[in-house]
Amino acid sequence: YYGAVVNPQSLTSYQALARCLLAVSSEGTIDWIVDDVDDSMVQEVMSQKGCVDAEVVPLREGEFLMPGFVDTHTHAPQVPNMGSGQQHELLDWLDNVTFPMEANFADVEFARETYVEVVRRVINCGTTMCCYYGTLHVEATKILAEIIHVKGQRAFVGKCNMDRNSPDYYVEPSPEASVAGARELITYIRSLPPSPHTTTPLVHPILTPRFAISCTSPLLSSLQSLALSDPALAIQTHISENPSEIAFTLSLFPNASSYAQVYDSFSLLRENTILAHAVHLQDEEKQLIKERKAGISHCPTSNFNLSSGVAPVGDLLDRGIKVGLGTDVSGGFSPSILTAVQHASIASKVIAMNARDTSAVKDGTFANRALTIPALLYLATMGGAEVCCLDKQIGNFSVSKSFDALIINVGKDNANPAAVWGEPHPPRKGGNHTKPKSKKEELDGWLEKFLFCGDDRNIRRVYVQGRLIGGTAFSG
Ligand code: GUN
Ligand code: FE
Repeated sequence: YYGAVVNPQSLTSYQALARCLLAVSSEGTIDWIVDDVDDSMVQEVMSQKGCVDAEVVPLREGEFLMPGFVDTHTHAPQVPNMGSGQQHELLDWLDNVTFPMEANFADVEFARETYVEVVRRVINCGTTMCCYYGTLHVEATKILAEIIHVKGQRAFVGKCNMDRNSPDYYVEPSPEASVAGARELITYIRSLPPSPHTTTPLVHPILTPRFAISCTSPLLSSLQSLALSDPALAIQTHISENPSEIAFTLSLFPNASSYAQVYDSFSLLRENTILAHAVHLQDEEKQLIKERKAGISHCPTSNFNLSSGVAPVGDLLDRGIKVGLGTDVSGGFSPSILTAVQHASIASKVIAMNARDTSAVKDGTFANRALTIPALLYLATMGGAEVCCLDKQIGNFSVSKSFDALIINVGKDNANPAAVWGEPHPPRKGGNHTKPKSKKEELDGWLEKFLFCGDDRNIRRVYVQGRLIGGTAFSG
């Protein structure tokens, strides 16, 4: 690949490389990256690197390459509900809107039809790695995993464990049945046939106790045994999303000192645990999560939409807790991480505005200030990779990492007029009052414009492990 590249590095910086040459192996990993390669030097660099026969994919004017997005929290069966029932807060929303929809996935035909569209749509939004919740149904969730596997997306897929505080028509009959279902799905996903495209398995199972409210203590104990016997198994759940949810949780576990401690008492807080929301955590809970090295999925669209609150992401980052972004469809009304980026920015500005009169902002910290573009980009890519414990494989472009990438188009031929970039050219009468931009400044502008005004129309190609699997230019 040859052209402009945006490459996240840290919460405070990314590289904007105007003329980058990046080589991908047949296994879909990055072989080498050379920056500042003039047009006329491409072939020479290729032959120096011993890549004489390799195809060069040139990026066009107005295009740039960036790492794929990581969605650390979404519910595949809730996609048909996006934009419905948003007058509710969490617990009423679950009862009135969400559980009735999820119950439909007892029907495997409905599940297949729906999930094909869901996965296609999520991929076309530029999500190359996605943490999916299914329903409580084993068969429907197997279908979800199989569709993702065939499409070639990277993913964690779990079926919900839920044996109480759910309607009669949508609840598991016993802890034993719930755990047996989880085991069956884990075995199924781990024995999916190897893909013809890569020897690296891309779809992995994830243990998914829905949240403490929907799990009895015997169920959580059985999940604890399962998790302890399988340290590589990732875990996902919800935490501290809404005040009524927190109060109900503490009433169900009267001996627990906090919501986080409920999960910890069942050994469910560990390095590969992904905790969604974390809006109202106490200091002790943040300390515990940090000690256990668990990660947090920040779901700002959902947190606004279900009136849950504003998560203190800057504070979590200052504490060194891993944070990624989640769409939390259909608490959130968009399957795109771009929407999560926009709302993460707004959420951080809400916190910053409320802290304006105090001396709360401290140098070199993130709390009480607006998230910057490098920080937002980081959360959408590398932060998500860390939360998934996949930061050795994905998150940015570096040698030996997988090529999970997007080709973004912000040029004038773009289908999304909102993202068309650039000053009038040639300059209009009355003169050009904007300073000429360097290539790097231009690329900075493209990135910001894409993050805030872009959508799936700007995403031309989506690659996972080197394979083209989606985007507007993909017809597969
Ligand atoms: N808590 C338990 N289940 C859910 C869910 O489906 N969505 C959200 N946002 N929170 C939950
Ligand atoms: Fe959720």
